[in-house]
Amino acid sequence: MSQILQNARAYESLHGSDIAPEQRPAFHLSPWIGWMNDPNGFSWYGGQYHMFFQYHPYDSHWGPMHWGHAVSRDLLHWEYLPCALAPDMPYDKDGCFSGSAIELPDGRQMLMYTGVRHETDANGQVREIQTQNLAFGDGVNYEKYAGNPVLTEADLPEGGSRYDFRDPKLLQAPDGSYLALIANDQQGEGGRILVFRSEDALHWSYVAPLASNRNRLGLMWECPDFFRLDGYDVLLASAQDMLPKDFEYHNGNGSFYLLGHCSDTDGAYTVESDHAADYGIDFYAPQTVLTPDGRRVMIGWMQNWDTCNLHTRWVPWFGQMSLPRELSVRDGVLCQQPLRELELMRTDEVRHEDVLIRDEEIRLPGVSGRTVDLELEIEPVGPVYSRFAIRFAKNGLYQTTVSFRPHESVLKIDRKFSGSRRAIIHQRRAKVRHEGGRLKLRLILDRYSAEVFVNDGEQVLSATVSTDLSAKDISFYADGEVRLKAVKYTLQA
Ligand code: FRU
Repeated sequence: MSQILQNARAYESLHGSDIAPEQRPAFHLSPWIGWMNDPNGFSWYGGQYHMFFQYHPYDSHWGPMHWGHAVSRDLLHWEYLPCALAPDMPYDKDGCFSGSAIELPDGRQMLMYTGVRHETDANGQVREIQTQNLAFGDGVNYEKYAGNPVLTEADLPEGGSRYDFRDPKLLQAPDGSYLALIANDQQGEGGRILVFRSEDALHWSYVAPLASNRNRLGLMWECPDFFRLDGYDVLLASAQDMLPKDFEYHNGNGSFYLLGHCSDTDGAYTVESDHAADYGIDFYAPQTVLTPDGRRVMIGWMQNWDTCNLHTRWVPWFGQMSLPRELSVRDGVLCQQPLRELELMRTDEVRHEDVLIRDEEIRLPGVSGRTVDLELEIEPVGPVYSRFAIRFAKNGLYQTTVSFRPHESVLKIDRKFSGSRRAIIHQRRAKVRHEGGRLKLRLILDRYSAEVFVNDGEQVLSATVSTDLSAKDISFYADGEVRLKAVKYTLQA
């Protein structure tokens, strides 16, 4: 084991245990110590789920990327394992970027990841050279392949950039061969997802592009995932540098999905529709896993690249994953529901039916807290109300709001008053479907985050908040008259 990896392992086990459990999310994965971004190598292996992640143990800001590692039996309770990969080889000395995992026939787990090495170009500019690399392991320790890198710029098709060639997603083809989907920038056209193939998992060659941006959704694409679900072939990816499009896409980096079909004859992918993967502030680079009982479950990084490096250095950890979300396709939309095992953590049920709220803000007995599962059904009484809002993580000073304006069909999450001292994005709006003001919401709070599932998961809005945990009131407000059903549980990890 390299000294660099040994150092990371010693550092995380020494300092990770300093962080009190109450300082972290209760059931969302956060880094053992330091910084976390993308989920990597999300897999079921050796009888448990493995989540690796982009990791900089020494600081709560992004830095030379390692792979952190955690395992779980239910995707909600996680146990840290020692750091899996460190930037310790000439081809990855400046970072082990994102990638994925697959089990080999001999029982080993294989990781494919992007190695980054800096090179200074003729103008004195430092550029990242990105190549694809392998590591083999037993679920705890991973050894990098002596034949690395297995894919370099020499394997790229015409026009492919060697500076933006990353985030391989490994798949097994029906004939037993291996596929890797890798994001690549195509000069002038933005990102595309390239397919590479291998018989033995060691020797790889280029096949064809699966999908190309042609400057429609942002510029470079990152972090692909691809799976078949409910009769569709679904491509998940994340775009850098997006322009806003209505309330569907927003400025900055955003994750999206394509629904389409791969032809049986030549594999060509025909796309039918695209949508945002999440309509909130914090969600990026999701990966999925197929559970042993056949569910497709997605987890994303619950952060935003434009705001994630603004906190002080002195916080011990930064970055967390989203809830695991069960996926399905309904009416041409990729729906997301909180993993059903979350319901096993429900305690203290509180039910309020037929609550009438009219031009006022109210609180409901027993409804408060920061680890909460709150199901809401809202409907008008008489003429359609103008606005309905839930305020949470609230005290005299702070609150975060989810509000709905039925006349505009707009649902908004707003954390302006959550305690943030930075001039960053604090709100996001989404167009949602409703029948004359009838709307169904499920709000999951876990100390430093809120995830709002709309209409049984047709859309989700996710946002992190840094509000002091003493702010735990929840209130309901209506401009006009609303009939509310609210069922609240405390979530106990
Ligand atoms: C996406 C990303 C990936 C890259 C990683 C680096 O969030 O930019 O494309 O592999 O983060 O940490």
